[in-house]
Amino acid sequence: MSEIKFEIFQNPLELAKGFADEFRKICEEVIIVRSKINVALSGGSTPKMFFTILALEYKNKIEWSKIDFYWVDERCVKPDDEESNYGMTKKILLNNIEIPESNIQRMIGENDPEREAERYSEILKKNLPVKNNFPVFDLILLGVGEDGHTASIFPDQMDLLNGEKVCAVAIHPATLQKRITLTGNTINNAERIYFLVTGKGKENVVKDILEKRNDYLKYPAAHIKALDGIVKWWITF
Ligand code: 6PG
Repeated sequence: MSEIKFEIFQNPLELAKGFADEFRKICEEVIIVRSKINVALSGGSTPKMFFTILALEYKNKIEWSKIDFYWVDERCVKPDDEESNYGMTKKILLNNIEIPESNIQRMIGENDPEREAERYSEILKKNLPVKNNFPVFDLILLGVGEDGHTASIFPDQMDLLNGEKVCAVAIHPATLQKRITLTGNTINNAERIYFLVTGKGKENVVKDILEKRNDYLKYPAAHIKALDGIVKWWITF
């Protein structure tokens, strides 16, 4: 089981800039060895600044054609819906870099959720290396909610952390919105897992998890411990 490392940043901009450079370095490191890198992106608001910096300052500093982008989770909406994680990423990043369409494997939010979870699982098992019966991402980018959820694994759906499924259907506990999500076993199978966390409202949850206090295992994010890889928390409150 990997140890968990964390780094504190002054503000969201410093964190986003720092991770943009870390992302560039990881891509270079993997591409030298394996000619391409498989990356799973989270949605929500935190990655927006990181995506903006990539689009503005790394357009010509990264070999985009050697990156395959996947998603950690997706809301079950159409890509042009403002809730769409893919739609947000396309608007901020993908439309502004030279990357082949074939490198973009979105979760199809408008499909039947159960069928899409199955379809996406098959794609991951076909396209990625497999270890421990789960696909292996080179890099997974995660966020954390104020309730300690990560991906779309919510505290009332802890069963999504385990089991044989690669992807599953989740339900947002407040809005009842359906989502497709990577399961905890798929996430924990990755080589590198980075949590990017911003926002004062997450401070207690993050401290509970990192200091293993206050019944911290009730939070799904506390169960993200790469089997063989590394987990890093990059934080600013
Ligand atoms: C999503 C994300 C989700 C997100 C957290 C944090 O689809 O919303 O994948 O897990 O990372 O909810 O969201 P913020 O970055 O908006 O705080």
